[in-house]
Amino acid sequence: MSIDTDRPVADLVTDDPRRARLLNDLGIDFCCGGQRSLAAWSEEIGRPVEDVVAALAEADRTALADSAVATARPAWADANVPELIEHILDVHHTYLWERMPAIRELADKVASVHGDHHPELIEIRRITTALLDELDGHLRKEEQILFPLTLQLTEAEAAGDRAPAFHCGRIANPIRVMLLEHDHAGEALAELRRLSNGYTVPEDGCASYRLLYEELEQLEGDLHLHVHKENNVLFPQVLELENRLAS
Ligand SMILES: [Fe+2]
Ligand SMILES: [Fe+2]
Repeated sequence: MSIDTDRPVADLVTDDPRRARLLNDLGIDFCCGGQRSLAAWSEEIGRPVEDVVAALAEADRTALADSAVATARPAWADANVPELIEHILDVHHTYLWERMPAIRELADKVASVHGDHHPELIEIRRITTALLDELDGHLRKEEQILFPLTLQLTEAEAAGDRAPAFHCGRIANPIRVMLLEHDHAGEALAELRRLSNGYTVPEDGCASYRLLYEELEQLEGDLHLHVHKENNVLFPQVLELENRLAS
């Protein structure tokens, strides 16, 4: 597949989410910085855009060879708003609710045991704990406020009604808060990657140390994709829907 370097990088991941890992490795933020083009990002990371396109093409070829599925565009990329919300809840919110307690415990344990020799673990524990605290509140706000309001909009559209009146004013307001919180989470993940030296376990690291880094790296991958789906696929559709119903 040819790659248009003027397209937002978010679209490249929506077309094929297997590209997320490579973009991540290159330092290209496709979730919170997803509206910037591949050309702009290449300049930002100091790599010729032809090199980045070549790396993506190579990753596409490898992914295609590894996969029995001919097309990589996932069902969620073309899902409607209620389906997309259900997908995000099923896949990403469920994952976080399941893993967050264990990650918190592990970060605490590893910092307590190895913090003397590896002081970065103390900082990793602090950032991880703050990130998980923020995510706890963030998921609740989406589940209890933003997503139910969004479903009221889709129901109003189906019934041929105008946009309902919300206590928060327009739905753009809670979305703006979610976007800010996504930015915070992205910064925390970048800091964790830097402090852990790209999740490299030192030679004296025990099994718990290794497991913590595996869990944090998995959290990073999952959260990047989660934020991408909300920032670049779901929220633009919701804002468009609200505008349509208001006009
Ligand atoms: Fe979410
Ligand atoms: Fe979110």
